[in-house]
Amino acid sequence: MKTNKLENLDKLRIVSKAGENGPKLYIETYGCQMNVADSEVVAAIMTNKGYSISENMEDANIILVNTCSIRENAEQKVRQRLNDYKKHKKKDKDLLIGVIGCMAERLKTKLLEEEKLVDMVVGPDAYRDLPKLVEEAGSGQQAINVLLSREETYADINPVRLGKNNVSAFVSIMRGCDKMCAYCVVPFTRGRERSRDPYTIVREVNDLIAKGYKEVTLLGQNVDSYIWKDEENNQAINFAGLLEMVAKTSSNLRVRYSTSHPKDMTDEVLYTMAKYDNICKNIHLPVQSGNNRVLENMHRGYTREWYMDRIRAIRKILPNCALSSDFIAGFCDETEEEHKETLSLMKWVEYDFAYMFKYSERPNTFAHRKLKDNVPEEIKTRRLTEIIDLQNKLSLKSNKKDIGKTFEVLVEGVSKKSNERLFGRNSQNKVIVFDKGKAKTGDYVNVKVLECTSATLKGSIV
Ligand code: 5AD
Ligand code: SF4
Repeated sequence: MKTNKLENLDKLRIVSKAGENGPKLYIETYGCQMNVADSEVVAAIMTNKGYSISENMEDANIILVNTCSIRENAEQKVRQRLNDYKKHKKKDKDLLIGVIGCMAERLKTKLLEEEKLVDMVVGPDAYRDLPKLVEEAGSGQQAINVLLSREETYADINPVRLGKNNVSAFVSIMRGCDKMCAYCVVPFTRGRERSRDPYTIVREVNDLIAKGYKEVTLLGQNVDSYIWKDEENNQAINFAGLLEMVAKTSSNLRVRYSTSHPKDMTDEVLYTMAKYDNICKNIHLPVQSGNNRVLENMHRGYTREWYMDRIRAIRKILPNCALSSDFIAGFCDETEEEHKETLSLMKWVEYDFAYMFKYSERPNTFAHRKLKDNVPEEIKTRRLTEIIDLQNKLSLKSNKKDIGKTFEVLVEGVSKKSNERLFGRNSQNKVIVFDKGKAKTGDYVNVKVLECTSATLKGSIV
């Protein structure tokens, strides 16, 4: 039996009218940067309705967990975390628990059936409905909205920043994905691709600048297919155009973006990056595999040769650009020879950084329906280890090349290991740790690199 929680929330609202904080919302975020940005949209929607954001779940009236479905272990992590919330709920019967994001979209009502203490299930395009759903859940009803939209971009919502530093922020420029890679759950959980009005993007960026932010990362599953038809001015704005608009807001603002797609990345974007010093010289260009047959099975839409051509264009137009990638080890039918082609491509590109995963079959994807997840677990593990070991060597090699060079670094905060040291990133997105001197978070400082590991550069201010 559910208690009538609406009553309780109303009480809290009366308290808030009396001058104290409104009902407290605690949001925990898993998954990609897009989810981080979405949680900030959720925070804006809820604070506009009188809720306040809590930093710990103990004193929250509502817990929302923004979830990821990309690999099975991402979902397992959330399931484990739900057990913690449930323990908490046993002590506080009025607590509401909501699952939002990709897992909510994928599992829909199943989540309410499987996880008995979950009160709300809300998909990525239904966040405007959250205040209403909270009320419904509060009155003991099951609250669910997993409708996907072809239009929703939350363009008018100014996100409430939840990050620890006030230096760097994510700005969502589009939603969804139309690429339909054979292994990927995202088109199912985030729906069709749609771009956000560029003028609202620039407005959000200007607002961040006014608040003292120094860096924005423009986010989309596939930024290269960003397109906005500006009917008023009778023009179309593509990703290169948007990048330029954002870069022009302030030369003191660093602009990053993620993620590019090898099939769609144009030279125009590369030339725009070359033209503006404040667009950071780092491209995340996921290749997934170095073998043509595997790429075809993955429905990636490019070949190894095409990808190499894109890398050559980057090297030519942006000689100081860092490169990173994603790799999947042990995709359906991948042979030893095919895996070796991934390693050889890695060596050819000499990536600065990479995210590396074992293939994880996701329900309802093309690979799940039509291909066999037939690479044994121990072989997947071994191949992944080979990829990771190689990338560690490549990262170390890349970092060693930076010893003796001086970089402009945007300070992001105090180093985890020592209060006397700060850390930040250079344009290439490499983390640099250095003695703090007179510098503080949010400053640009020039740092000369003196030593390195495969993960970090260490240096001193010059
Ligand atoms: N299994 C393993 N890795 C995956 N990715 C996407 N789907 C899967 C899957 N089913 C990886 C890809 C993608 C990154 C975000 O996650 O490398 O680029
Ligand atoms: Fe992000 Fe994909 Fe995970 Fe959804 S499934 S949170 S889009 S990484």
